Amino acid sequence: MEKKPKPTFYVTTPIYYVNDIPHIGHAYTTIIADALARYQKLKGKKVFFLTGTDEHGQKIEKAASEKGLSPKELADQVVVRFKKLWQELNVSYNYFIRTTEKIHQEGVQKIFNQLLDKGDIYKGVYQGWYCISEENFLSEDVPVEEDGYKICPDCGRKATLLEEESYFFRLSSYQKPLLDFYSSHPKFVRPQSRMNEVVSFVRHGLKDLSITRTSVRWGIPVPGDSRHTIYVWFDALHNYITGVGYGWNQELFETYWPADVHLIGKDILRFHAIFWPAFLMAAGFPLPETVLSHGWWLKDETKMSKSKGNVLDPYFIMEKVGGEALRYFLLREVPIGQDGSFSHEGFIHRINSDLSNDLGNLVQRTLTMVVNYFSGELQTPGEEKELDRQLSSLFEVTRDRVIAFYDDYSINRALEEIWAFLNSTNKYLADNEPWKLAQRIEERSRLARILYQALCAIRASSYLLYPVMPETAEKIWSAMGEDKKPGQVLITQFNFYGLKPGQKVKKPRALFPRVELKEFIGGIKKSTIAEESSRKQEVKMDLVSFEEFKKMDLRVAKVLTAERVPGTNKLLKLQIDLGNEQRQIVAGVAETYSPEDLVGKEFIVIANLQPAVIRGIESQGMLLAAEVEGQAIIPFFDREVPPGTKVK
Ligand code: ME8
Ligand code: MG
Repeated sequence: MEKKPKPTFYVTTPIYYVNDIPHIGHAYTTIIADALARYQKLKGKKVFFLTGTDEHGQKIEKAASEKGLSPKELADQVVVRFKKLWQELNVSYNYFIRTTEKIHQEGVQKIFNQLLDKGDIYKGVYQGWYCISEENFLSEDVPVEEDGYKICPDCGRKATLLEEESYFFRLSSYQKPLLDFYSSHPKFVRPQSRMNEVVSFVRHGLKDLSITRTSVRWGIPVPGDSRHTIYVWFDALHNYITGVGYGWNQELFETYWPADVHLIGKDILRFHAIFWPAFLMAAGFPLPETVLSHGWWLKDETKMSKSKGNVLDPYFIMEKVGGEALRYFLLREVPIGQDGSFSHEGFIHRINSDLSNDLGNLVQRTLTMVVNYFSGELQTPGEEKELDRQLSSLFEVTRDRVIAFYDDYSINRALEEIWAFLNSTNKYLADNEPWKLAQRIEERSRLARILYQALCAIRASSYLLYPVMPETAEKIWSAMGEDKKPGQVLITQFNFYGLKPGQKVKKPRALFPRVELKEFIGGIKKSTIAEESSRKQEVKMDLVSFEEFKKMDLRVAKVLTAERVPGTNKLLKLQIDLGNEQRQIVAGVAETYSPEDLVGKEFIVIANLQPAVIRGIESQGMLLAAEVEGQAIIPFFDREVPPGTKVK
């Protein structure tokens, strides 16, 4: 049966905790959601884009009391910060939901009652461990440490032992329905590796879930039993329906639910891929189409997080380069799903090379020529030659590929295509040398064609770029004298030759001035709760068990080829032989070794490290090296060892 394409698109971000101000990680998720929302609008969809804040629970209660505020006062302050950031990043959400709003609280209570009546919620006693930082109940397999505490496996902090009366959600009876659902919707969670993770977790068995607390005051009261407040995750997840009308605007709700995509970080995958569909099944709602789980932005190899105090302040970056450059960098650098390492070098390279040079200069140069040679008026172009047609047909191909990539949530690939096209446009100008033609009067109409063709190409590429860089695309269009904004033109109606002779163009100010590394030193925001992070470090420095050590797959690797990663001083890209497979790794050793030094050499790599993307290049493992005054020194073997040999 052919499915009719839906006329609507509903996209959400997580609702962020208000225990601290927003950082790059939150910006990342929200920018992806914004780009998807804008893209769907170009396709003619009616779009609803929801974001907001998660304001209840013990974590917020605690953060507020440390600051001498009430939880609501803290939330009010932090909400302003989030909204301001979204505005500065051109985030076009339709509604900002706060879980302290009446419509939300009533919606959650209504569902709670419904599930209670149905028997999917029942009263019992909870005995077990709870992590406040993750707002999560620890699984029973987590061992008790020598000091009598359990340590949260997700964040490394000490958990609290609870024994209290609690209402439970009958999660155990949803194991089978969930597994059936996953097998009939194999793309429910993306990327695939995360889907597999969820399926294997659920296969392992599901326990009923405690969903109320008597020891937490800051939460939605259980209707009719106000000694209990509702567990913050049960509360929070329902924002995805209360934020789109459930309980207060039935028409809105029916127009958009179920969601097309819930964007999340992989830290909160289980809540979204297991609890949430189970709650929805229990309440009889249709399930969302996709949970799209992205990776983490890392700083010094650990996840940036508010509570670790190693987060980058988006404002610091935006002051230097603006929000559009930040949007571009975050979406270009890493495929959705993989972790990314934030480095200032990488960031600056993207700005100077991609934005300043490939895009900014192209726009500036072309418009300047029209201003200088034709007093800023677009001329009727001369005859179109094969070389010109090549550029417009290349655009057709590029457009189709970009659409396919956007549809597949592969935004970084879409951007790569757009950049390849920009480079072809740059080459078109270089090949045709309009500055030379400008000196010969008989070449006026050829000159007019070349500038017209190049401007059409610039207009077309900025159109495709609009979902990621809306303000930049608008600036470029307006400098070309377009009266429409790119966001007002449907993709099906977009015409490469949309520019009209007679149109007046202006020379824009440089779109992306070059930046230098020294402007970026510093910029790590110290968290307001930095003490907690040092506590966590202590826990982490504990001895590892042999079991833990055994999890690491250390192997002998032989270097087949080595080359520098362009634009970096530190990085080499290596192809390595691991016995029965060949892999690529990116290693920060270029300050100590040149590529030739390493070819043929053998060293130790961690073979089962999660792949990461470094400067746009996938690294499938990591080599071991000592760091001496910033220089990486690799331990080599004193004799030949077969590649792939295990090191233990
Ligand atoms: O978990 N890299 O809120 P939260 C990439 N309130 N993304 C990151 C990131 C990083 N280093 N750090 C945070 C909560 N994020 C709950 C959600 S939803 C019903 C309730 C992003 O403030 C990423 O999207 O801890 C992650 O899932 C989210 O922020 C967690 O935000
Ligand atoms: Mg978190």
